[in-house]
Amino acid sequence: MKAVILAGGLGTRLRPLTNTVPKPLIPLLDKPLISHIVDSLPAWVDTILLAVNYRREALEAYFETADPEGRVVLVDEPEPLGTGGALKNLSRHLNETFLAFNGDIVSSIDLALLLRNHRASKGIGTIALWPVPDPSAFGAVGTGPGLRITMFQEKPAPGEACSDLINAGVYVFEPEILDHIGDGFVSLEREVFPKVLEHGLFGHRFEGYWIDCGTRENFLRAQRTLLDLGGGATEGRVSDRARVTPPNFLHGVEVDEATVGPYVSAQEGVVVRRGAEVSDSILMRGALIGEGAKVRGSILGPEVIVAEGAQILDTILG
Ligand code: GTP
Repeated sequence: MKAVILAGGLGTRLRPLTNTVPKPLIPLLDKPLISHIVDSLPAWVDTILLAVNYRREALEAYFETADPEGRVVLVDEPEPLGTGGALKNLSRHLNETFLAFNGDIVSSIDLALLLRNHRASKGIGTIALWPVPDPSAFGAVGTGPGLRITMFQEKPAPGEACSDLINAGVYVFEPEILDHIGDGFVSLEREVFPKVLEHGLFGHRFEGYWIDCGTRENFLRAQRTLLDLGGGATEGRVSDRARVTPPNFLHGVEVDEATVGPYVSAQEGVVVRRGAEVSDSILMRGALIGEGAKVRGSILGPEVIVAEGAQILDTILG
């Protein structure tokens, strides 16, 4: 079976970091975000079609070494075509039931169960649905008997949502869905789904965890979730006098007499100088945190230098 991962978005909400590092390659603990999806795909997925556009070369370079089994095929779009247009652009590869994912989702969904439910429903598609306390910031998905989807509500006013379920960005589709996608820029969520309701679009509710990593807050939330699930590790030169509060993922770092954690990930070459305090943050390759500086709730791109005594709070730096 084939799986499509949509990975061509601009990632504007993570700028300025995404001006240089595409969202799929931002590290989430031990590997880039996109690899969390790729590695979660079961062996019965033999081909992974990565729909790319923005910063394609960086993704190509990454998968040259990160895909030893040769399952990942990058397919370029001549221009960004939106989530629907990106699928349409892959039509020639998709002639049987396939999986599709937004490329910035981290979740515990059971894909075999999703597929089994889809096959039982005999619909044109199945959308994984995630329950939230307040869907007003998202879009609510209304369902009827057998979780058949009856309506989509975009950003309903508080208290007016038709359900507590939102689209989790994980799908199973029959290839016929492609016949309902027009040419050019098309949104799957806004234009295609409402149009195919009569062909049987079903929901699949799941539990566990689900995080859309599109914003700084959510990216850091994903990191906290995975660290709480045991994804921590420490490797590098950490001073005996450093105060380190787990969980963290520290790889190839140098930490002086500083305060680190909880919920910090730091990649190869990161240096944290004396008196600095870092918590709830991502420090990419080669970042330097100067003496007495404070970093909290932030994502720092490769080689970022935080000056002595500076405070970087709830910020993204490219
Ligand atoms: P923002 O600009 O911050 O909204 O991020 P984004 O561009 O990634 O958009 P969004 O988070 O809505 O996208 C959801 C998923 O679809 C992400 O994995 C994107 O990479 C992907 N995506 C969005 N637009 C396109 C597109 O035009 N082409 C392709 N191939 N993928 C897209």
